[in-house]
Amino acid sequence: MHKQDVWREQSLKNPEEFWGAYADGLHWYKRWDKVLDNNSTEDALTGKRSYTWFAGGECNTCHNALDRHIQEGNGDQVALYYDSPVTDSKRQYTYNELHQEVSRVAGVLQSMGVEKGDRVVIYMPMIPQGVMAMLACARIGAVHSVVFGGFAADQLAKRIDHARPKVIISASCGVEPGRIVDYYSLLIRALEQVESKPEHCLIYMREQHEVTLQQGRDYLWQEVVPNARPAVCVPVESQHPLYILYTSGTTGMPKGVVRDTGGHMVALYFTMQQLYMLDPGDTFWSASDIGWVVGHSYIVYAPLIYGCASVLYEGKPVGTPDAGAFWRVIEECRVKVLFTAPTTIRAIKREDQHAELLRKYDISSLQAMFLAGERADPDTVVWAQQRLGIPVIDHWWQTETGWAIAGNCRATEASPVVPGSAGKIMPGYQVDILDEKTGQPQEQGTLGEVAIKLPLPPGNLYTLWRDNARFHKSYMETFPGYYRTGDAGMVDANGYISIMARNDGIINVAGHRLTTGGLEEVLAGMPEVAECAVIGAKDTLKGHVPLGLIVLKKGITTSHEEIVQQGIARVRELFGPVAAFRRLYVVERLPKTRSGKILRATIASIVDGEAYDIPPTIDDPEILEEITNSLNQATG
Ligand code: COA
Ligand code: AMP
Repeated sequence: MHKQDVWREQSLKNPEEFWGAYADGLHWYKRWDKVLDNNSTEDALTGKRSYTWFAGGECNTCHNALDRHIQEGNGDQVALYYDSPVTDSKRQYTYNELHQEVSRVAGVLQSMGVEKGDRVVIYMPMIPQGVMAMLACARIGAVHSVVFGGFAADQLAKRIDHARPKVIISASCGVEPGRIVDYYSLLIRALEQVESKPEHCLIYMREQHEVTLQQGRDYLWQEVVPNARPAVCVPVESQHPLYILYTSGTTGMPKGVVRDTGGHMVALYFTMQQLYMLDPGDTFWSASDIGWVVGHSYIVYAPLIYGCASVLYEGKPVGTPDAGAFWRVIEECRVKVLFTAPTTIRAIKREDQHAELLRKYDISSLQAMFLAGERADPDTVVWAQQRLGIPVIDHWWQTETGWAIAGNCRATEASPVVPGSAGKIMPGYQVDILDEKTGQPQEQGTLGEVAIKLPLPPGNLYTLWRDNARFHKSYMETFPGYYRTGDAGMVDANGYISIMARNDGIINVAGHRLTTGGLEEVLAGMPEVAECAVIGAKDTLKGHVPLGLIVLKKGITTSHEEIVQQGIARVRELFGPVAAFRRLYVVERLPKTRSGKILRATIASIVDGEAYDIPPTIDDPEILEEITNSLNQATG
């Protein structure tokens, strides 16, 4: 039996021993009573019972990420490398330096009245102050909710109203290649819309864009942080929420995934040791954004909890200044393991087909590259393997799980990589492929709904913020006894899983998870639009890009071209540039089932030029030909 399967069996049979051993590597103010307490908590609203990891334990994530290393004599080690080709700046922070800054930011939050359990929304670009803000919240038991900078004001407002923060931390601007993103104006616009106004805002002023703050409400980071009284860590219960991270669901209202403190810490520690196989002191680079789960887990928490140096990169894989940027950072920071999205590799490959820029740099420190965020297509995996000569490992996970459900642990006798597959199931998880209709486990090799048997391992979500009913409805009710991932996949005879598609309206655009429902909501708000559908169309660089079809109300005289331009601009304005929404077409009708459901999967096949079966439930099959003709005409 393969070592990873042995570990998995141990983790499921004896979670006390398996997870307890990793938890022992961390600091606890009070040791847990039980590693896994089944049925320990009851939700007041729904009456549903749930389980707690490390029940009875008290801990603090910031203590484990900073103070612990200093107490162990490693304060002078590098904790964070900030590398920003877009502002032409670099900086390193040792654990001592980061600790000092974080303690002061935490002190500022306390002086603003933030207490354990209060929410703090963080809307920040990829600068060290974003990392500090997250750790400062963790330090005092405040619950942070980071909003990705590529979302526009409306999306920010939705999250503020749902999280109801006491304080918002932001910056004057973000810097994208060739343009300044005015974060402060976006924040002001969001605040004009929200019902739940924060008491204060803490704003980091960047030299690239200075703004005038609102007296009384706003505080300037550079003024208050250096003068603040450092705050000490506040012990919290193991299940205390460390953060809320809003992620795309099937509707326009994102889901507020709640992460616990104790289980999360332990799970991340385990992955650093066994999945990525690093040692404290090594450099780990997760080329994501702090606004996404990958950034939460692997830019901020895991590397620091484990005593590594983490890289915070404010730039792109190409164009800042060229396709050699990643190799430069790897050389300069002596990166041992890189984690990125397949789209990054496709972007580099497109610019530098033979990886000639690689020759300029010494990347001998690099031992492995991990990919996630979308399925790693075999071409991309093989290209990277051949150019880099190291294992290129796809692994699969979700915002909800916080760490990998499948992937090959480097610390086992390395399982061979199978391009196209996300690898073996990780310890802690029991995954079954279920029949969509009957909910019965499928035969090996059959495509079906991927579901995880309960209980979920440590660090996975245990509820949705202020919406436990939605948590149960979205994830737990479809297949009793299982968590429904929303992904479709299959497992082969060697236990390798391949994740092929989503079963819902979620698409991945350049590794960013977006909801087609949210985009449809924006288009449906146009006065000319009677109905609309958004699907994910295949894209050679970004994996998928959204594509919209709109049906106009009767009697609209504005030209189609003008309406299309307005629709595209509206999505950018209200949803955000990250949607990369550039394809919108006017059609006469949308294909639907007899019960009125729009046949999005069939539209996607037409758009991608793939063969499709005419759904037996279709209302009027002729519409399919009509759509094909309209799209052919529009795209020439
Ligand atoms: N703040 C403000 N705007 C942002 C932003 C942020 N944090 N991040 C992205 N945007 C904007 C970009 O400026 C761009 O706007 P534009 O339409 O004016 O050009 C738009 O959102 C799309 O951005 P992006 O997805 O970065 O696409 P791109 O075309 O600029 O670059 C890639 C393409 C492949 C190089 C890029 O998508 C990439 O690096 N992808 C990796 C993604 C990743 O790591 N995902 C992590 C998930 S694990
Ligand atoms: P997010 O919550 O943003 O991390 O997105 C999670 C979703 O991205 C998953 O449910 C999958 O649909 C997709 N995904 C992430 N990693 C992979 C992978 N390695 N292979 C296939 N799909 C993936």
